[in-house]
Amino acid sequence: MIRVPSKIKLVEVGPRDGLQNEAGEVSTANKIALIDRLSRAGFPVIEAGSFVSPTWVPRMADTAKVLAGIHRRDGARYPVLTPNMKGFESAVAAGAEDVAVFAAASETFSQRNTNCSIAQSLERLGEVCAAAKARSVRVRGYLSCCLGCPYEGDVPLTTVVKLAARMLALGCVEISFGDTIGIGTPDRATALADAVSAVIPRDRVAVHFHDTYGQGLANILAAMQRGIAIVDASVGGLGGCPYAPGAGGNVATEDVLYMLNGLGCQTGVDLDGVIDTAQFIYQILGRSPVSKVTRARLAVAAR
Ligand code: HMG
Ligand code: MG
Repeated sequence: MIRVPSKIKLVEVGPRDGLQNEAGEVSTANKIALIDRLSRAGFPVIEAGSFVSPTWVPRMADTAKVLAGIHRRDGARYPVLTPNMKGFESAVAAGAEDVAVFAAASETFSQRNTNCSIAQSLERLGEVCAAAKARSVRVRGYLSCCLGCPYEGDVPLTTVVKLAARMLALGCVEISFGDTIGIGTPDRATALADAVSAVIPRDRVAVHFHDTYGQGLANILAAMQRGIAIVDASVGGLGGCPYAPGAGGNVATEDVLYMLNGLGCQTGVDLDGVIDTAQFIYQILGRSPVSKVTRARLAVAAR
C-alpha cells in the first residue's frame, strides 16, 4: 500500500502561474470568471495574480481589477505575488489579505527573473514580510530552481535548504519549492522533501512542480510519500515562467486530483468542477487542454 498524507491542501496557481506567460490575451472579466469557477470547485487557495512590473509581465497588469471583481468564498484564500514593497503596497490597496514573495536558488535565475542577486531579493522579501506582519497579511514564500536552473544546471540542495530556512526566519509561513523548469525526477523530489523537512516543519512545505518533462505527478507522489501535504497545480496544466526558457506549465490540477482521489486523499475539491474550468479557460485560449484527465473526459463525452 502507498502511504501518503490523508489530507492534501491543493493550491491552484493557474490564474497566476498559468496566465502570466500566455501569448493570448485573457480579459479581466474572463480571469474573474476563471477564479470564481475555481472557488466554486472548492479550492482552499487560489493564486489570483501578481503585482509585478507590467513591463516585465504584462499579462498580470490587471490584477487589482481582478481582485476587485472576484467573489471570495468563505474560508478560501486568494494570494498574489509581490516581489517588493511597491508590489506589496499595491496588493494591500487592492484588498489582498495574502501575498507571496519569491526568490531563487540560482543567482542567474534571480537576476533574470527579478533583476537582482539572491541576497538583494532576500532583503526585498524581508521588507515585505515585516510590512505584512504589521498588517496581519499572510506571506507565502516561493523558492525557484530547487531541482535545477535553466541557466546554471544543477543546484545544490544545501543552497535550497539554507535559503528556505532564511525565508522562514524572515516571516514566510509556508515555503513552496519550485521545480521551475520541470526537470526533476522522483529520486530528486524525495531528496528535496527529506532535505527541507529536516529544517522546516513538514506542514509548512509545499511542492510546486512544472511538468515540462512529464515528471510532475511522479514527483508529487514521491514528495507526498515523504509526508508533504501541500501541492501546487494549475488548472488544465496552464503555464510556465516568462524568465525560465523551456519551462512548460505546472502539473495539471485535474491530473493531480484524479490521483489524489484514487489514493483516498481528502482535498475538498470537486474533480468535475476542475474539468469544466479547464474546458472553459482553454476555449477562451483557443486550444485543447493539455491535461490527460480532461482529454480523457472529453473523449468519453464525444463517444
Ligand atoms: P526593476 O526594473 O529592477 O525594478 O524590476 P525597479 O525597482 O528598478 O523599477 C523599475 C520600474 O518598475 C519603475 O517604474 C517601478 O515603479 C516599476 P518606472 O519608474 O520605470 O515607470 N516597478 C513596479 N511596477 C509595478 N509593480 C511592482 C514594481 N516594482 C517596480 N511591484 C522587479 C524589479 C522585481 C519589479 C521586476 O524584475 C519584476 O517585476 N519581476 C517579476 C518577474 C515575474 O513576475 N516572474 C514570474 C513570477 S515568478 C515564477 O513564475 C516562479 C514561481 O512560479 C515558482 C517556480 O515555478 O519556481 C513563483
Ligand atoms: Mg511556477
